[in-house]
Amino acid sequence: MATNTIPDITLNDGNTIPQLGFGVFQVEPRDTVTAVREALRIGYRHIDTAQMYGNESEVGQAIRTSGLEREEVFVTSKLSNAFHRPDDARKAIQSTLDELRFNYVDLFLIHWPLPTLYDGDFVSTWKALEEFRADGRARSIGVSNFQVPHLERLAAETDTPPAVNQVEVHPYFGNEQVRAYGREHGIVTEAWSPIAQGKVLGDPVITGIAGKVGRTPAQVVLRWHIQRGDVVFPKSVTPARVAENFAIFDFTLDDDDMARITGLDRGETGRQGAHPDTFDWMPA
Ligand SMILES: NC(=O)c1ccc[n+]([C@@H]2O[C@H](COP(=O)([O-])OP(=O)(O)OC[C@H]3O[C@@H](n4cnc5c(N)ncnc54)[C@H](OP(=O)(O)O)[C@@H]3O)[C@@H](O)[C@H]2O)c1
Repeated sequence: MATNTIPDITLNDGNTIPQLGFGVFQVEPRDTVTAVREALRIGYRHIDTAQMYGNESEVGQAIRTSGLEREEVFVTSKLSNAFHRPDDARKAIQSTLDELRFNYVDLFLIHWPLPTLYDGDFVSTWKALEEFRADGRARSIGVSNFQVPHLERLAAETDTPPAVNQVEVHPYFGNEQVRAYGREHGIVTEAWSPIAQGKVLGDPVITGIAGKVGRTPAQVVLRWHIQRGDVVFPKSVTPARVAENFAIFDFTLDDDDMARITGLDRGETGRQGAHPDTFDWMPA
């Protein structure tokens, strides 16, 4: 049996990322310091936030008051949909650093491709992120919610491949084409909503495997992601669940159980979140 140590994954720029992190989407700012402090206390060393989550400042506060060194925690943030124009993006990364009160983020992502906005130009936005990597404000850069044609366009028109692509993936939505592109091109897939915000946890296949291996449904689903090689950062404001979601490195699923979970994929109908080709939400 392995110990409960979180593996690091090496990115295509040579940096490493802890494979398990803690997500803070929909964590209210007033709850964020407590939630992140609890996650760090349990042992998480990777926090996934975003400008549009409105809680970067509290994430920074939690880390700064945790007793850990800045270098011990991997922090991701993401560019708001409102700031895709390069001049706006340049101000926005500084705003992220000011909110966090850090002088770098470990990973900075374009949150959504927004192909129907900004004349479909996410390429110049990406070139701005290349600047942030060059000047050290972002140690790694990547994208989120990019479909294969979006990734192909970046490959054709820019010099730097994204280190990661953070996309919706869970047993009901395998997102296999996007994952396969990442595998073939050295882009790590980060699986958002890894337990589909709880919707997969009552599935009889999942509960059956959970009963068999003596683990909870959430642990089984998170373990499935880990064995597929994706990065995950489940969100919870419930301390017992934060601990439960962390305890996934001392058991394994066999090939048959892995295949049965993968077989739950419902294709496009399993998608819970917005479709990246049409999503055009703009914060006020
Ligand atoms: N890039 C993007 O566009 C994007 C989009 C969505 C999410 N994300 C990232 O991915 C992270 C995770 O996704 P998510 O927050 O949408 O969903 P998720 O992690 O799949 O699920 C979170 C929900 O499941 C519950 N939960 C957590 N652990 C549980 C457990 N062990 N047993 C039962 N229920 C449990 C939580 O409840 P409680 O909190 O009440 O405990 C919460 O309601 C986000 O926080 C964010 O960092 C990124």
